Amino acid sequence: MNALIRSTGTYVPVRRMSNDELPKYLDTSDEWIVSHTGIRNRHLAADDQVTSDLAVEAARKALHRAQMQPEEIDMIVVATATPDFVGFPATACLVQDKLGASNAAAMDLTAGCTGFIYGLETARGFIASGFARHVLLIGAEILTRHIDWQDRNTCVLFGDGAGAVVVSADQGAEPSGVLATHIRADGSGARLLERTAGGSRFPFQSGVTPQADTYLKMEGQKVYNFAVRVIVETIQVLMEKGGVSVDQIKYIVPHQANVRIIEAAARRSRIPVEKFYINIQEFANTSAATIPIALAEMQGKHLLAPGDLVLTVGFGAGLTYGGNLLRWSAPSH
Ligand code: ACO
Repeated sequence: MNALIRSTGTYVPVRRMSNDELPKYLDTSDEWIVSHTGIRNRHLAADDQVTSDLAVEAARKALHRAQMQPEEIDMIVVATATPDFVGFPATACLVQDKLGASNAAAMDLTAGCTGFIYGLETARGFIASGFARHVLLIGAEILTRHIDWQDRNTCVLFGDGAGAVVVSADQGAEPSGVLATHIRADGSGARLLERTAGGSRFPFQSGVTPQADTYLKMEGQKVYNFAVRVIVETIQVLMEKGGVSVDQIKYIVPHQANVRIIEAAARRSRIPVEKFYINIQEFANTSAATIPIALAEMQGKHLLAPGDLVLTVGFGAGLTYGGNLLRWSAPSH
């Protein structure tokens, strides 16, 4: 049974913040941010928007393009590191309610920026087991609400947004859709990227919890080195698993965290950087949303045609990493 990406949808908030706004109150510059990360803009959720709102907007577009009603969805998976609520209720349940997806199960998936990649394999599994015919997979984040806007090491890097796909069962004779997945974790690096307070380890205590512990913290250089290594590994493993060469792959769609990470991984893999789709300049790092936003954007630009081979690759908090090899199946429009 194939698990096909049938449609894509995306939503990014209207508010667009360019690098030029940051030096007004922070010791940074457009030149530093562009040269060290490739980021020029990011989009920020409005004060009254929550992660499930962004997810629902992206999901509605994906459902519309698939010409499907919400009631046809069997499973909703929301990959997010920034849910509406800590722990429970799941953001996916809030999305289920807002969409009116009355026949769907719903759950969140926590794998940091690798969440969408884990999610595609999760969707494939639900379809292969026979449980689901149609899975709505969404990557949605409001990271800008969990960063210290005074910390130049982190605040320049992130943005808000959501991307969604409908993954559907297909009994075609030829393998298509999600062809292969490589996902791994290295929990020994868990504390390289964390929000310290709010869980069972460090419950939030009013007047005691340092403000800094409520923000995203990151050891940037270590994450950078990890990222380059695991991107190279993942591309190699997926090409071997799929029995395909670089020339056969139309696009590699990497997690958009830093353009230098992508360039370094491309050099080490001896793959032309042009094969990597990069849109970090506009959206910055939207964590689990970067890859579905990129796929939706590529579809909108007619860059993907049915039959194309596409390789996703990413890394994130956990630490987690991995990728999917896809035979593209959504019609271009
Ligand atoms: N503006 C100006 N200077 C800055 C800024 C800034 N925004 N940020 C850092 N600097 C300074 C530092 O203070 C440092 O100054 P110093 O030498 O006087 O101490 C100098 O620039 C160099 O700092 P580095 O940390 O060495 O800079 P680097 O080139 O490594 O870039 C970065 C930092 C962009 C964070 C990089 O390490 C990186 O991209 N790491 C990976 C990040 C990532 O992928 N995170 C994934 C998160 S995803 C998730 O799961 C949520």
